[in-house]
Amino acid sequence: TTQYLKDWQPYPFELLETRLEFDLSATATRVRSALRFRRRAPGPLILDGAGLRTLSIRIDGNDLDRSLISHADETLSIPEALIPEGEFTFFAEVEISPEENTALEGLYLSGGIFCTQCEAEGFRHITWYPDRPDVMAPFHVRIRSEKPVILSNGNPVTRQQGFAEWHDPWPKPSYLFALVAGDLVAITDHFTTRSGRGVELNVWVRPGDQDRAGFAMESLKNSMKWDEEVYGREYDLDVFNLVAVDDFNMGAMENKGLNIFNSKLVLASAETATDGDYERIEGVIGHEYFHNWTGNRITCRDWFQLCLKEGLTVFRDQQFTSDMRSAAVKRISDVQTLRARQFREDQGPLAHPPRPDHYQEINNFYTATVYEKGAEVIGMLKRLVGEDGYRKALDLYFDRHDGQACTIEDWLQVFEDATGRDLTQFSRWYTDAGTPRLTMTEAWQDGRLTLGFTQSTQPTPGQSEKPARVIPIAVGLIGPNGDEVQATTVLEMTEPAQEFTFDGLGARPVVSLLRGFSAPVTVEREISAREQALLLAHDTDAYARWQAGHDLALDALVALTEGRDAGPHLSQALGGLLEDAERDPAFASLCLALPGEEEIAGTIAARGGVPDPDAIHAARGQLIRDLATTHETRLAELFDSMQTDGPYRPDAAGAASRSLRLAALSYLSRLDDGARAQALSDSASNMTERLGALEQLVALGKDERALREFADEFGKNRLVMDKWFMVQPMRTAPTGAVQRANALAQRSDFDWKNPNRFRALIAGLGANHAAFHGKDGSGYDFLAKWLIRLDPVNPQTTARMCSAFETWRQYDADRQAHARAALERIASVPGLSRNTSEMVSRILGGK
Ligand code: ARG
Ligand code: ZN
Repeated sequence: TTQYLKDWQPYPFELLETRLEFDLSATATRVRSALRFRRRAPGPLILDGAGLRTLSIRIDGNDLDRSLISHADETLSIPEALIPEGEFTFFAEVEISPEENTALEGLYLSGGIFCTQCEAEGFRHITWYPDRPDVMAPFHVRIRSEKPVILSNGNPVTRQQGFAEWHDPWPKPSYLFALVAGDLVAITDHFTTRSGRGVELNVWVRPGDQDRAGFAMESLKNSMKWDEEVYGREYDLDVFNLVAVDDFNMGAMENKGLNIFNSKLVLASAETATDGDYERIEGVIGHEYFHNWTGNRITCRDWFQLCLKEGLTVFRDQQFTSDMRSAAVKRISDVQTLRARQFREDQGPLAHPPRPDHYQEINNFYTATVYEKGAEVIGMLKRLVGEDGYRKALDLYFDRHDGQACTIEDWLQVFEDATGRDLTQFSRWYTDAGTPRLTMTEAWQDGRLTLGFTQSTQPTPGQSEKPARVIPIAVGLIGPNGDEVQATTVLEMTEPAQEFTFDGLGARPVVSLLRGFSAPVTVEREISAREQALLLAHDTDAYARWQAGHDLALDALVALTEGRDAGPHLSQALGGLLEDAERDPAFASLCLALPGEEEIAGTIAARGGVPDPDAIHAARGQLIRDLATTHETRLAELFDSMQTDGPYRPDAAGAASRSLRLAALSYLSRLDDGARAQALSDSASNMTERLGALEQLVALGKDERALREFADEFGKNRLVMDKWFMVQPMRTAPTGAVQRANALAQRSDFDWKNPNRFRALIAGLGANHAAFHGKDGSGYDFLAKWLIRLDPVNPQTTARMCSAFETWRQYDADRQAHARAALERIASVPGLSRNTSEMVSRILGGK
């Protein structure tokens, strides 16, 4: 059944206090609950519950009949007549089996550790409850367990062998509840807040993993400090606990005072984690910590408002990473991810607005649109109202809404009230799906440059009308000699078509368009390769510079794919860039990373063509080889000079050198038959270079020894072996990839019920563009087979991975027929989960 935003009604009862008692056991955990309510409006008391063995239910002293439970609806409805006036307490005792909970939703076991995941609707798998985010209460939790460490939200009241009691004074919705019990050890530290509160910080891991938890702790302290300095937000409890578990559907969860993490986002050492892993750990630790204010103190009224907390918290974690590392690099890589994931979503059958108005399964809406586009919308808002306006609006938001469950309307209202700006038109960014296409034309006369813009958005499923939006277009002008003749200025477009002029210019400049990627739109303009090269060489805006090079490369790749010539400009421009690559190794490596096959395919499709995955794969390989041949000497020099000496440090500078080194390697490997990659694989003392080398060897098919030695060395380390499982399906030459993936799936250490391991192998193949979209349909069949197998075990992870198919309609008729058959096979499985059937039917049904 479909849920609609327009149907939201306030809950007719106030929940004054929640008391829970757990007797933990793997197969028969008892949960006793006491919920103190007060009536606010007429109506029955409706509670949610799923898969519970209900032992008793009562109100005050009166037993309730079990016939009030509807298993089909997963609700318990207590009619008004059975509910006393004023305050009353609902009691329940239920039994659940964490061990059988393979869906990893609610209370489950991960490697012997009891843990929970309640967002979005997991709490109903623990006990009867008004499981919706606008019902908030303080929690009092008592837990009996033989496990040595027992944790829940808030502050500890009692900690002793076999028993613990926790109290969380901050009213919260059920989705923020958490419980952990296990054989865990902590690394411990302290933080003193700006106003003097002492906070005990613990990062809990399995014994033996402590030496890989230090970076997580540093990141946590940096996050706490940053939120005080930049947003004026302080922590509000005496302890902050963070736990790493191996089985987790997503990245991490912001449960109040007890964040639970996928262990891959906590554990890191030079030998086991890449620079990219370190950066993600820092970013996600920040993200979950920042939720304490944007998500927990101020939460969402309903799940349609998910981007209220996620868009804002992603925006905040992006700011944090920019401040901790390089702002330019962060912006460029965020834009790359947005394009690869969100634009793709917006242009296909799964398109939805950042604030959807209906869904069947909310877990299917933890998407790039809600998260990343949600963050972009806030970035635009900030650009429009300025630094000061943004700060004022945020202060007002925290002031006005602390302790509340809010909507996007509340959010926009604080900006209107703080800045006096009318945001009616702007609000379309939240309600309308699709990526606007911006076109620009130029007219030049007597020192006057006129820019003509038009905007249009294609229809998306369920939304045919797309009125004009407010688009902040940041532009600058670069003179023919490369000097900037107009600094960044923001043009505010509000109409379907609009002109802006620049006067008093000496010579005709080149427009540096959409600086800083000031709006999530696609751009169409006439620009010559020579002008792109000028921007790549001289633009003062790092993003626009990178974009110019990226466009140049994309045009060359499309030309080659379609059998035309790539032209000389890309190679010349890269030559210029390589010249002084040492000055900014991070930027150079971003430019050297040519657009991927998936992006080339999407570009060809957007231009009205039908992408041929094999031709794209061949063209990209050819271009890399040609560029490598032309620039071999300089690339070899950089490969040698970009070695980082001394002990490994996971900082931005070290990461930049290593990424340039590996970018050079990816070219050189096409010429040296893997000699450098093999040598690096043998000598590397950090995982960044070790894995970078392995990727090249796998792509060349010269990987036997490297893979064997890697497995010998890291066989016992799950996180590192996930990399081993992923690099093979993802990087193997397309013709052999499916076969290899099938062989890997036979291994006894392919523990497919673990989401990380499943994703490594199955999504790894999905990310091998030419293999997944192989002509014979074997890539589609491989995914379908595994999604069908995983669905009854773990619907959430299955449903998320269906998005591998979302671009299926852009390929040729044969491939479409294969993809459709695979999707229909999934759809026809009896008892398919609600999660997966919603995804498959949208993918099959949408435009
Ligand atoms: N709120 C979490 C985060 O973004 C995501 C958890 C979502 N989990 C889920 N099963 N839908 O930090
Ligand atoms: Zn989040």
